[in-house]
Amino acid sequence: MVTMLLLLGTLAGLFTAAEGQSFHLGKCPTPSVQENFDVLKYLGRWYEIEKIPSNFERGDCNQANYLLMENGNIKMVNQERRPDGTMNQVEGEAKHTNLSEPAKLLVKFFELTPATPYWILITDYVNYALVYSCTTIIWLFHVDYVWILGRNPYLPPETVTYLKDILISNGIDTQKMISTDQTNCPEFP
Ligand SMILES: *[C@@H]1O[C@H](CO)[C@@H](O)[C@H](O)[C@H]1NC(C)=O
Repeated sequence: MVTMLLLLGTLAGLFTAAEGQSFHLGKCPTPSVQENFDVLKYLGRWYEIEKIPSNFERGDCNQANYLLMENGNIKMVNQERRPDGTMNQVEGEAKHTNLSEPAKLLVKFFELTPATPYWILITDYVNYALVYSCTTIIWLFHVDYVWILGRNPYLPPETVTYLKDILISNGIDTQKMISTDQTNCPEFP
């Protein structure tokens, strides 16, 4: 068992070093989510203000556009400017898994990748949103992502602090969070 833990610990270390992701011991935290979440008010464009970096986002000027689909799911279009200046776009589809918990979505970006949670911890719909995604791996570890989103490319620092305090009070590590460069961005279609 100890050997196993050491091995897993080493793997975790490698994983963290390799991906720069947020990898932690233990199961995912279970923060409370936005009460009475209204997905219709959440649709539309959001700018990424801060995040825990993921290996599927490498550029800057990151934006998301959320659209209601005919089947009631949400089409998620993520756009970013790659380091070489071209635009990268990925599309995903998010759905509710339990209508009693509307702020907990499950999103799938590529056919071959597993669906991942997309929880809206808090949003006022018109200024900011705090999104959390956590996956537990073999009961022992979890990898998590955070996105602070704004309706504008800029959020006041006090709003960012307010949202980070919510993360911290839920036991979520904010140390790996970095801000997204939203200056001199092109207009995405
Ligand atoms: C749906 O959410 C409610 C409220 O949190 C919970 O009590 C219930 O067990 C959930 N249902 C399923 C199928 O997970």
